Amino acid sequence: FKKAFIFDLDGVIVDTAKYHFLAWKNLAESLDILFSEEENEQLKGVSRVKSLEKILKWGNKTISEEKFNNLMTKKNEEYLSYVDAMSKEDILPGVLETLNYLKENDYPIALGSASKNARRILNKVELYSYFEYIVDGNEVSKAKPDPEVFLKGCELLAVEPQHSIVFEDSQAGIQAANNAHMTSVGIGDESVLSEADFNFKSFSEISEDVLKTLINFKK
Ligand code: BG6
Ligand code: MG
Repeated sequence: FKKAFIFDLDGVIVDTAKYHFLAWKNLAESLDILFSEEENEQLKGVSRVKSLEKILKWGNKTISEEKFNNLMTKKNEEYLSYVDAMSKEDILPGVLETLNYLKENDYPIALGSASKNARRILNKVELYSYFEYIVDGNEVSKAKPDPEVFLKGCELLAVEPQHSIVFEDSQAGIQAANNAHMTSVGIGDESVLSEADFNFKSFSEISEDVLKTLINFKK
């Protein structure tokens, strides 16, 4: 059998976390709720609805359903204004090399993201065609750390979870991969992602030799 690869999108392939941060910060401040990098970290991998629920909880605020929906729309509009200015220049360092190596060597590749904007972003950065399957926020009902998103990816790729490798930048995402008994690879801050089987600061550290190590790793 061939091992399969599932990539998270935000914070792994592209640095959209900074755009989510800007949009959530503006929203939080409009409600007089403090929002710093620390809060933002806790929203990585978390769905749009759950993120707003968390922000309101931090600020001890309750709002009407109508206001809630308006804020979600506003946040997404601001976020998309940043996204729409993206191009392939915004692909994080080393990602393209990894994707090309995996493609050239016929490894199955899927996307596993909580975002409802995943397809739009992949199109913007011209990576859509690399992915055999895309599982995103439109297809899942249970948020990471629930493994649903990754298990769906495995099912579509027709590969056992134990035979797949997940790249993630969020704690919830690493937990989701671990919960499914997949090989978990943390991309980013090792102190946040210490539960991962492997840790790298970025894809620049993932050489062909590293990929071979990941492929041969048995959990
Ligand atoms: C995740 C991001 O990938 O997608 C979260 O890490 C974001 O920050 C979530 O909230 C949902 O994204 P979107 O694009 O549907 O608002
Ligand atoms: Mg992410």
